[in-house]
Amino acid sequence: ASSNSPQFSSRFAFIFAAVGAAVGLGNVWKFPYAAGENGGAAFVAVYLIGLVLVAAPIFVAEVVIGRRGAASPPEALRRQAVEHGKSKGWRIPGLFGLLAGLFVMSFYSVIAGWTLDYISFGARGMFSSFTAETASQHFDDLKASVPRLLFWQGLFILATLGIVAMGVKKGIERAVTVMTPALGVLLILLVIYALATGDAGRAIEYLFRPDFSKLTPDMALAAVGQAFFTLSVGIGGVMMYGAYLPKDASIFRASGMVVAADTAVALLAGLAVFPIVFANGLDPSGGPGLVFVTLPLAFSTMPGGDILGTLFFFFLFIAALTSAIALYEPVAAWLAERGVSRIKGTMIAAFGSWLLGLLNIFSFNLWKDFSPLGFLPGLEGMTFFGLITNGLDKLILPIGALIISWFAGRLLARKAVMTELGVEGGLLFRFWIFSLRWITPVAVAILFLVNLI
Ligand code: PHE
Ligand code: NA
Repeated sequence: ASSNSPQFSSRFAFIFAAVGAAVGLGNVWKFPYAAGENGGAAFVAVYLIGLVLVAAPIFVAEVVIGRRGAASPPEALRRQAVEHGKSKGWRIPGLFGLLAGLFVMSFYSVIAGWTLDYISFGARGMFSSFTAETASQHFDDLKASVPRLLFWQGLFILATLGIVAMGVKKGIERAVTVMTPALGVLLILLVIYALATGDAGRAIEYLFRPDFSKLTPDMALAAVGQAFFTLSVGIGGVMMYGAYLPKDASIFRASGMVVAADTAVALLAGLAVFPIVFANGLDPSGGPGLVFVTLPLAFSTMPGGDILGTLFFFFLFIAALTSAIALYEPVAAWLAERGVSRIKGTMIAAFGSWLLGLLNIFSFNLWKDFSPLGFLPGLEGMTFFGLITNGLDKLILPIGALIISWFAGRLLARKAVMTELGVEGGLLFRFWIFSLRWITPVAVAILFLVNLI
């Protein structure tokens, strides 16, 4: 590693940081609503299969590339391409990855802003007043209030900027080691409460008994995209964490823990949300507001609900923050390699994502309510938010995964990769290489083709 690359103090610190980057809104907010919009169990099944067969191997690949490269993602790709006698143009996909990260942040910051609004709401003791109707109303009001959205989104971006500007070790390690386990504990409480008081039978059936006849190619692509999104893979962000992982730590083991923790949190979120959905006659395909309507309903009847609800949204905010770091950090690192100070680099990233975030805020509102067309011009029924989230899941992340699988599975010398992984072959390694060389490209190609037709 280069002398200025701030390594984590131990393997465990890396695991916590990588878990922090993985576990976020993608698990608690996006997974339940995406599952709900895509019909439940069939989506969940494809998501889990995609996770094991494709997304987890890409995660490992990004850590390998990042730790070998010991630099920002574009620079890590360029260095190793040149080392293998290939074009330095390999930095270009890395640069696109940085840009894609800012697009992720553009909506991530808005949703994270919702958690802040809910913290302030819960802190005033107002969860206990919720009914199914007022909970929906509260969410609709928030989504329609440009000033509120702008305020909370701006605050979230400032918080992220502050942490990234402070530097890796101090900021991330401290936040993640305490808050992620706390979020997990609260989620488990919520699941128990939801299963006991809600419609547990229907929720479990909805999530875990797949009816594959309802599965469409578009849903399958969305499910695989969700597997990428939730692990933060496909845009190079995990490479950054790889660059900080001590050389003697096992990449397979560390990655396995991250994938397991991330998956557990997503499934817990699903189990907390859907019993409440069915018990209250809510629409499972209600969209991005699902968690923000259902969980407050649980808090409204739960003993101590106002306190627990406030804490829950606070932990979710921290989880979002530790994921958002993974979106600015690579940009700041890349700019730092070009002599831009860490603070300035982070500010550039923050400003870019803030600008893009405005488009999301206004697409929730103005385009729909005030545009004479009633929608984003040219794309009927599609907001900027819809465009970005769908574009990421169904196009950008799969393409990113293809590029990464090619790089780690075919461009890098097998010997070099084995050394990095600390293995001399073995079943796990053979599965991993097979996934990169064959499963990922074939699966992505089939999904793209079938969706085209
Ligand atoms: N994995 C994060 C989540 O689940 C989202 C994310 C995606 C973060 C891509 C960084 C990069 O919330
Ligand atoms: Na995640």
